Amino acid sequence: MVRTSARTPSTKRKRGATRPLIACVFGTRPQLIKVASVWQLLSQQSRLLLIDSGQHYDHAMAGTFYAGKRIRTPDINLGIKAKSAGSQVARIAAALDPVFTRRRPDAIVTFGDTSTTVGAAIAAAYQNIPVAHVEAGLRSFDLRAAEEKNRVLTDHLSRWLFCPTQTAIANLKNEGITRGVFGVGDVLCETFREVQSRATPNDLFTSFGLTDGDYYLVTCHRAETTDNPERLRELVTVLEDLDRPTLFAVHPRARKNLIRQRLWQRLKRVKTLHLVAPFDHESTIAAIAGAKAVLTDSGGVQREAYWSRVPCLVLRDRTEWVELTNCGAVRVVGLNLTRVRNALRTRWSIRTTRDTHFRKHNASQKIVQILLRELTSR
Ligand code: UD1
Repeated sequence: MVRTSARTPSTKRKRGATRPLIACVFGTRPQLIKVASVWQLLSQQSRLLLIDSGQHYDHAMAGTFYAGKRIRTPDINLGIKAKSAGSQVARIAAALDPVFTRRRPDAIVTFGDTSTTVGAAIAAAYQNIPVAHVEAGLRSFDLRAAEEKNRVLTDHLSRWLFCPTQTAIANLKNEGITRGVFGVGDVLCETFREVQSRATPNDLFTSFGLTDGDYYLVTCHRAETTDNPERLRELVTVLEDLDRPTLFAVHPRARKNLIRQRLWQRLKRVKTLHLVAPFDHESTIAAIAGAKAVLTDSGGVQREAYWSRVPCLVLRDRTEWVELTNCGAVRVVGLNLTRVRNALRTRWSIRTTRDTHFRKHNASQKIVQILLRELTSR
């Protein structure tokens, strides 16, 4: 069901007729975080259409961003819910098609690597509406993962590719994409700095009886782990083995599958483990800041741990953020107990990354500047 708020750009069209109409499409928690850094700048210089696919619908996953007024209410909520990634992509593209026909945006902006990212890119590309991809060029080189398919497809459909790192630019070049590629840095960085200034872990310490620097934070939600019973059991074994109090912020997908595999009760028996609902963004950043180490399969949490200078263990077999492994901030340990133990026992020396793009702190400004220049010079 497509819900449209009364506040649509068409009502403003007459007043700002010369300004381009740009549609930002998002739907998951990490995308809401990224949109939070660009939407205000975009709305100062363009007519902005905010479209939420509805992919994440829980209050903990999406609602807190609207409640905290980090994003204004979207103009359109597609309300898409689907059982598989494939049907999610198809339904998002199908729901956007009439929206794009009606509104004819001059460009669409899509973020990251989710079903919403590629659904938006497909719908726009079939109407020859130019696509801007924020966080372009990242690769894990594992096409079995939905996210990798989404990245590759979206990049190949995009006119403007905004890359966070030099590696991302090189990845695109290897696939023959060199036009419209811009190294702008990471939009997440700005949001992180803004949120970090008011995030304090004190409430967490009180609520869970934790001590600063003496607990672990765990997040895990990727389908490659949570939808694979064997890997899910390995995750539980890792969690049972941790030698300190641990906060496990449980994503709905992980929770559902832990219950289905009868592993939830096993986790509840671990005395040092606090099983909590997903935190809002501010609490996540606070929890990272106070942790001794973070164990995660999330791309965003890896970068936030690096900016917080907190050791980060990646519970996957690879990472797209090789800059972070190169500077000693991240170690890829998979779900291997020995590698997890070793990583937690050894000393970490976290250096500043050498990647000149990743070191930039004004990605959203650059993206908006480039996009507006490109759209107004056509
Ligand atoms: C999606 C993205 C992933 C991203 C992650 C961030 C895809 C293919 N995956 O994964 O790249 O890192 O978001 O969180 O797009 N669910 C709820 N409440 C919600 C959201 C989801 O209960 O608010 C449930 C859904 O019903 C579904 C499961 O969680 O059963 C998975 O949700 P889905 O949006 O398909 O993928 P994520 O695992 O969140």
